[in-house]
Amino acid sequence: MIEDNTQPAPIIELSGVTKEYRTKATFFSKGYTNVMAMDNISLTLQRGEIFGLVGQSGSGKTTLGRLLLKLESPTKGIMKFNGKPINDLKGKDLKTYRSKVQMIFQDPYQSLNPHLSIAETILEPLIVNKIGDIHSRKEKVIETLDTVSLAPGKEYYDRFPHQLSGGQRQRVAIARAIVLDPEFIVADEPTSMLDATIAIQLFKLLQQIRKKYNMTFLFITHNLAAAQFLCDRIAVIHDGVIVETGPTDRVIQQPEHPYTKKLIQAQPKFNF
Ligand SMILES: Nc1ncnc2c1ncn2[C@@H]1O[C@H](COP(=O)(O)OP(=O)(O)OP(=O)(O)O)[C@@H](O)[C@H]1O
Ligand SMILES: [Mg+2]
Repeated sequence: MIEDNTQPAPIIELSGVTKEYRTKATFFSKGYTNVMAMDNISLTLQRGEIFGLVGQSGSGKTTLGRLLLKLESPTKGIMKFNGKPINDLKGKDLKTYRSKVQMIFQDPYQSLNPHLSIAETILEPLIVNKIGDIHSRKEKVIETLDTVSLAPGKEYYDRFPHQLSGGQRQRVAIARAIVLDPEFIVADEPTSMLDATIAIQLFKLLQQIRKKYNMTFLFITHNLAAAQFLCDRIAVIHDGVIVETGPTDRVIQQPEHPYTKKLIQAQPKFNF
């Protein structure tokens, strides 16, 4: 029997990625101080998986998201997307990369422009990236609103973010993130401002989107229960260091690292 040993090619590979922030002289001290936000992180994400990055406040989660979005550069280390280094992307290549990688933020109030209607919000990335014409863009907006279950779309087109509930606003943010058919989405605490029932509905939506488009997600959270509900694998990050990575159920049921055990004990009720 011939065994098929071909591994699916990873979509994201990080090796030895470090991010050190140098803060300027402060009110209290004249010298510089360095903050090690990410310390020698190596990580591989497979296409189509929902990967959770779990850690307490200040552990470096958003920093990793910002590096992957190329909003900032690592101090050291190599980052690859579909097998190709992205550290030095510039110009057209960077623009193409940015259309393939999107982010959903914690607070849709901050990430959505209050002056744009829902239709304009979802249309904008298509216009900026010069995709399609008036008709195909309109169709894509309708289809995307349908995908995120804001249907019938025409009820929502002309509304503004303040005329929606928090959960609906986050659906608009998700629609805006997926309208360009990206390959990879970083979702940074997307439900931490919503109640548990709405959070679960959004998790189910992310799972549907993953299935429909084979998209890959990095889900950033401080909440192990949320990660357990949503993620295939998780990495636990502590002070910029990934202390443990594995299939979600294994990490939660048989944690190996003392810090993971502490994190689990700190969330006995598993509320989210
Ligand atoms: N631009 C910056 N300049 C200096 N230090 C920064 C900067 N951004 C983040 N840091 C520091 O890097 C560390 C990691 O921050 P980060 O925002 O990645 O944490 P986090 O895990 O996302 O936290 P939270 O759960 O509160 O969002 C923190 O100590 C933070 O103060
Ligand atoms: Mg953060």
